[in-house]
Amino acid sequence: MANVAVVGAQWGDEGKGKIVDWLSARADVVVRFQGGHNAGHTLVVDGKVYKLSLLPSGIVRGGKVSVIGNGVVIDPFAFKDEVERLRGQGVRIDPVSLAIAENACLILPFHGELDRLREGAAGAGKIGTTGRGIGPAYEDKVGRRAIRVADLRSPDALGPKLDRLLTHHNALRAGFGAKAIDADALAEELRGIAGALLPYAQPVWRLLDEARKAGKRILYEGAQGVLLDVDHGTYPFVTSSNTVAGQAAAGAGVGPSSVGYTLAICKAYTTRVGSGPFPTELEDETGQRLGERGHEFGTVTGRKRRCGWFDAALVRQSLKISGVDGIALTKLDVLDGFDTLKVCTGYELDGEPLDHLPSGEEIQARVQPVYEEMPGWSGSTAGARSWADLPAEAVKYVRRIEELIDCPVALVSTSPEREDVILMRDPFAG
Ligand code: GDP
Ligand code: IMO
Ligand code: MG
Repeated sequence: MANVAVVGAQWGDEGKGKIVDWLSARADVVVRFQGGHNAGHTLVVDGKVYKLSLLPSGIVRGGKVSVIGNGVVIDPFAFKDEVERLRGQGVRIDPVSLAIAENACLILPFHGELDRLREGAAGAGKIGTTGRGIGPAYEDKVGRRAIRVADLRSPDALGPKLDRLLTHHNALRAGFGAKAIDADALAEELRGIAGALLPYAQPVWRLLDEARKAGKRILYEGAQGVLLDVDHGTYPFVTSSNTVAGQAAAGAGVGPSSVGYTLAICKAYTTRVGSGPFPTELEDETGQRLGERGHEFGTVTGRKRRCGWFDAALVRQSLKISGVDGIALTKLDVLDGFDTLKVCTGYELDGEPLDHLPSGEEIQARVQPVYEEMPGWSGSTAGARSWADLPAEAVKYVRRIEELIDCPVALVSTSPEREDVILMRDPFAG
């Protein structure tokens, strides 16, 4: 039996939460390995909606161990709010069902503020971040001045660590005309919130090693998508972490062979929140229709998502970069009722064909999509749970995507509801 890593193959919001929740029925441990509360993963179980940002999607299904890995940046205040909100919905969260890596770095209140100050000053060049302080927190991590979960255990030793961190930040803040942060007040705030995190804090690498030795099945849950990866995405319009499957190992503290099967989640069309290139974007009625049918509004910020046709060239590239074994194609039902569908098979730049999206920012903004047209279907795929329930044209659409992206479809999702999935191949079977 293989452990499975789930990653987004586009610009996020592909439906990772729904698929991770569905797969978690077959898993023992579910691990988040990067990102933070910039993620918004929505689960619908018997009509009840659960919105997760920091907690692994496995938490909603009882009897599993959820892990927040060292690769995640944790805002302790957002964590506390999310735990309370989910407990209010009847989800059990305690140190048996949840573990947090003691070596994970924290997002502090001034990180969010800096994120928003920078975006506000960037004018047309802004990234369109979620404003949650993700970038500034990762910068402090690689800058070796971050406060980590384990530091909360030694409150008396926080002083010099905060001084080092604030020497950097107060200089930056002065440049923005923002008030300096007082180290004593921040230390007090941290002492106040420590109790919300520390009961869960532990060396999760050891928990995962023991799970592996006991033959437990581990599911790694990615956030964002490969096109938002800090190395491989549409830089600089990306997030500040590696979102590819390779990060599952480094961001959890396990070896690369711990992931036996990588499942990429792909939406049957494309969406993007925030700025940056989007070759198949539709700024017309069709784009509007996709957005309305797909309820394409961000879970985290409520922003309208930009919509466009499925970009097979870009997904093919994402799948190669992340080493993907199979995909889950989601939101097929959103395409119900279109007369014709288009799929991007490659690009053109100054009259020359391109089979991939090159890395240059200026080139990415200029490529023109090359489309293949396919007939749509008049029947419904909504709620389908078997291949036989799909209209013939929908089957052809899925099969053609499979060919174009050079990767098999393991699952198809046909509604937001937990059980509305067509299983073609069990990822845990390897
Ligand atoms: P994630 O960030 O990848 O977990 O995706 P989000 O939860 O942000 O966005 C996906 C949205 O689509 C959520 O509101 C889901 O409930 C919904 N969704 C997931 N799968 C399907 C599907 O197959 N059909 C439809 N109509 N909605 C879906
Ligand atoms: P899930 O896990 C979609 C986007 C932001 C912005 C860029 C950088 O729900 O798929 P950041 O706040 O990370 O510095 O923002 O990345 N972004 C997402 N877009 N889904 C997400 O997560 C995202 N997380 C970040 O909109 O363009
Ligand atoms: Mg999301």
